[in-house]
Amino acid sequence: MNIKKFSTAVSMAEAAGEHIIELVKKKPESLLCFAGGETPLLTLNYLVEAALKGKVDFGKCSFVGLDEWVGLGRETKGSCRQTLFDYFFDRVPELTDSQICFFDGLANDLDAECKRVDEFIAKHGVIDFMLLGIGMNGHLGFNEPGVPTDKYCHVVDLDSVTKKVSVKYFDEEVNVSKGISLGIKHIMEATEVMLMAYGEKKADIVKRTIDTEPTSDVPSTLAKNSKNAVMFIDEAAGSQLN
Ligand code: PGA
Repeated sequence: MNIKKFSTAVSMAEAAGEHIIELVKKKPESLLCFAGGETPLLTLNYLVEAALKGKVDFGKCSFVGLDEWVGLGRETKGSCRQTLFDYFFDRVPELTDSQICFFDGLANDLDAECKRVDEFIAKHGVIDFMLLGIGMNGHLGFNEPGVPTDKYCHVVDLDSVTKKVSVKYFDEEVNVSKGISLGIKHIMEATEVMLMAYGEKKADIVKRTIDTEPTSDVPSTLAKNSKNAVMFIDEAAGSQLN
């Protein structure tokens, strides 16, 4: 896996944004997947500003959501849907609903949700580009430690670390125990995967990701087996690397 280190989270987000813009210029009908969470927000903002200035046109792209907390919808601030729509989809004027496929965390039939999202991706072939944060336990999306590697979309029991970390996203108290997520197979098959991390709190998991052979115990290490993976980190997230 290629590692690119940047002096600040802002310069990292600019570089990631420029990379995505180039990709969309080369393939305007790309299928893109951006994680929710804090990590991609600066990059998403960079992309929105570029779109508003006419530097990039997402009009022919499609988008698929990475994951969602089961039981949460857009009305819960901190849900993946709320984050992606408020920070990106609703701010890019050329986007329409038909371009976006996002898990409904409130769906009664979660298996049908998995099937719907799998079919959307299959219709496009594979995901062209994924921007993934790295969880404190190494999860990618809600592919938690111990994840089977042979799954597309699936419903997951959340790891204790994920439940503990989840409070940072929500203003109100929410009780989350399950997630719905794209699977490791989607990550393996994607044309390009970008893992991203910034800040000192990610330094340990960044080091473990780099130092550990690919294993489900640390799902971020599995990205090394994907076709084309790059890791973008800032100085602080890379501070434990030699
Ligand atoms: P974060 O989350 O971007 O909010 O740090 C990453 C993750 O848990 O996948």
